[in-house]
Amino acid sequence: MAVRETWATRIGFILAAVGSAVGLGNVWRFPFLTAESGGAAFLVAYLVLVLLIGLPVMLVEFVVGRRTKHNVVGAFEELGGSNWRLVGGLGAFAGFVILSYYSVVGGWVIQYLIASVTGAYTANPEAYFGSASVGMNAVLFDALFMAFVVGIVALGVRDGIERAAKFMIPGVVLLLIGLAAYGSTLPGADDGYAFYLSPDTSTIVTDAVGLLPDAAGQAFFTLSLGMGVMITYSSYLGEDRNLLSDGLIILVADTSIALLSGLVVFPFLFAMGVDPGDGGPGTVFVSLAGAFAELPAGRVVGAVFFLMLFLAALTSAFSIMEVVVAFVTETFDVDRKPATVGLGVVIFLVGVPTALDLAILDVYDVLANQVLLIGGGLLLAIFGGWVYSAGALEEFTTGMTGGDRLGTAWIWFLRVPVVLVLAFVLYNGFGATAEVVRAAFL
Ligand code: PHE
Ligand code: NA
Repeated sequence: MAVRETWATRIGFILAAVGSAVGLGNVWRFPFLTAESGGAAFLVAYLVLVLLIGLPVMLVEFVVGRRTKHNVVGAFEELGGSNWRLVGGLGAFAGFVILSYYSVVGGWVIQYLIASVTGAYTANPEAYFGSASVGMNAVLFDALFMAFVVGIVALGVRDGIERAAKFMIPGVVLLLIGLAAYGSTLPGADDGYAFYLSPDTSTIVTDAVGLLPDAAGQAFFTLSLGMGVMITYSSYLGEDRNLLSDGLIILVADTSIALLSGLVVFPFLFAMGVDPGDGGPGTVFVSLAGAFAELPAGRVVGAVFFLMLFLAALTSAFSIMEVVVAFVTETFDVDRKPATVGLGVVIFLVGVPTALDLAILDVYDVLANQVLLIGGGLLLAIFGGWVYSAGALEEFTTGMTGGDRLGTAWIWFLRVPVVLVLAFVLYNGFGATAEVVRAAFL
């Protein structure tokens, strides 16, 4: 078996992990979920969950990855034995499901990038979305997006993923800031900010509790948690560093980009008098493209926006691909290049149904967020808190000074509150999945 790679630099690891976290979840899903679910109440639930549930689970992933320096399946097997191997397998399975539809939406983004330049959606944004999102175009551009993912991941951890993240992530940040600045100059932008940020304080607490399942699903999705991305990425860490500070950097970066995305999306919509829509995957593209089409410099703004979204989606897709590539190359002793190409084809095929029917895309999305990632998170919390707690604590404090008390608090936090909240959310997720399955097939 080939020698395992490591990240070239600390900043390389952090940028790759931020690259995984920052994606369609921040720019596409977060603003509209927030708007659809009552604005600030959702924001509060989301922020609390990111910090109190997301961070502890992320730390379990870091500990498991750095400790074992294995792929998801090998890592769980080494620390937990053959039963826990299955949990690693669940993570790899989640990777297939998520990347298969993530790349379909990635394909929409490429079409919108091209259409911004040619002006193809200007005349009728609604009709354009219809032809871009379902059918032959969706399938072809899904394949194109996957070709980019395969092309980069096949180059390896350092030469592919780390190198790409080093220029793509700064690019995403700069383009987003530029868009937010431009958006703030539009007349009517203030209405957009108000819609996005003003809470109904009288009901905020009860609203936030009801929004828990959605907010938890979004917290896990946005931080790339629950399927072994952070296990895989931290398995390439060479030196022992402070995992808590790395985790906090990733969390703050992801959250800032999500908040910033709202400050881009809503001013544009309100300035152009476009209805923000009901939050579905389609309305995002339809309404934003509609707003861009109305602007004098709309083509340029649209191209910048969709280029930014393309780069953000790519770096997330790399990380999902890396989970399955690491698993397959290390388990079956295949070389990286053929494994990446073969897996790319399989994942593409798994995603074809979602490129043919939006209701099926919805099934994949809800199943992934509310069942697979949350279930994975629950199992990670049980593993770190109960099954492997002594080893987890030891690994957590390696690379930091002190940290024993903090570590003990972390373990207890995993044991009870994190497990309870995730169990509740998972229970809810089964119901939500049944509902979208019924909507798609019955
Ligand atoms: N975090 C990514 C986003 O916000 C999505 C993702 C989920 C990536 C799960 C990897 C694993 O878009
Ligand atoms: Na994210």
